[in-house]
Amino acid sequence: MHKPRSVLLLVITLLFIANHSWAQKGPEELSLKSAFSGKFDIGAALNLKQIYERDEQAAALIKAQFNSITAENCMKAMYLQPKEGEFNFKDADRFVELGEKYGMQLIGHTLIWHSQAPEWIFIGKDGKEVSREVLIERIRKHIHTVVSRYKGRIKGWDVVNEAILDNGDWRQSKFYQIIGEDFIELAFQFAHEADPDAELYYNDFSMSQKGKREGVARMVRKLKVKGVQINGIGMQGHLSLDYPSLADFEASILAFSSLGVQVMITELDISVLPIPGPSQGAEVSTNYQYDQVLNPYGEGLPVEVESKLANRYKEFFALFVKHHDKIDRVTLWGLTDADSWKNNWPVRGRTDYPLLFDRNYQAKPFVRELVEMAKE
Ligand code: G3I
Repeated sequence: MHKPRSVLLLVITLLFIANHSWAQKGPEELSLKSAFSGKFDIGAALNLKQIYERDEQAAALIKAQFNSITAENCMKAMYLQPKEGEFNFKDADRFVELGEKYGMQLIGHTLIWHSQAPEWIFIGKDGKEVSREVLIERIRKHIHTVVSRYKGRIKGWDVVNEAILDNGDWRQSKFYQIIGEDFIELAFQFAHEADPDAELYYNDFSMSQKGKREGVARMVRKLKVKGVQINGIGMQGHLSLDYPSLADFEASILAFSSLGVQVMITELDISVLPIPGPSQGAEVSTNYQYDQVLNPYGEGLPVEVESKLANRYKEFFALFVKHHDKIDRVTLWGLTDADSWKNNWPVRGRTDYPLLFDRNYQAKPFVRELVEMAKE
């Protein structure tokens, strides 16, 4: 082999290694959290394998790239209090200990959610639906027990999740049907009582939809008029390649910020897969039958799709940087593509590519452009 060719080969190899290994080593100048420092926190949702540090590569990536973590599931009411009065804090305690060990901002997700509420909470001893008073007391007990346990250790709580529909109406959840709309005010009040220093958030999906934007703004205005402490609005950010428009998303950032609260992008992912039904949201109860047509990239992502994904991430992060004075945090809903809920929702058994790090824990090429963008 001629000398020049072997040198060229060596240079290419070294460049490839350098490009793909920076994400794990995370030297200061090449990490997301360092790049966006001073603009907004960068977070990731962690699953139990990561919370228990059973995956060394994941642990390295988390420490190098993020300064905020959210428990993807283990702090939901159905896991924390599966039976009335029986609390299971093992996983949540481990999550909080891990966050403190890593020096992370900790986000509690989520106190009141229609989708993962334990069934017992709505049923009385007589097997019938509980009264308004009983349900209020059960909510109070859950929130006081959970929030006071981590008092002073959790930066902020997703107090209520997904209570408003896309058209701005109230979701007809059991919380709403039994207590009425003031279940929201009560949840925020109980959380504030339990930890007066914790930030308190309302979190929802499809927040770029005009109806939802107006419904959430109406609700938050009412809470603030009543003197209820609400510090932020979480826009989940479950996006796809062509929905929602950047303009609609920006309109919601501006609308929510104008209410005098912080805006957070709380569950960011960008799916590259076809959407099988009318819904563009994250209504976790929606599911569709598997069909190969719905899973076009099982063997890998075509370059042109990779390029579309890169452009979507770059335009949204450019928007976040533009409004970094309004945005407190951007959290990715998972660490690597392999961890994403999108591989199994709304169709089980698909291969999606919605996050910043691939199935080999490597940063996708466009992530370096996000880091460069942050420095501009
Ligand atoms: O841990 C059990 C496992 O033991 C069992 O074998 C398996 C059987 O299916 O289920 C596993 O639990 C699953 C859990 O994720 C952990 O993987 C639950 O079935 C599944 O419902 C649960 O899905 C989560 C979903 O919320 C519902 O809680 C997703 O991981 C999580 O990403 C998703 O996140 C929500 C946010 O909390 C709120 N915003 C919408 C977002 C997407 O739905």
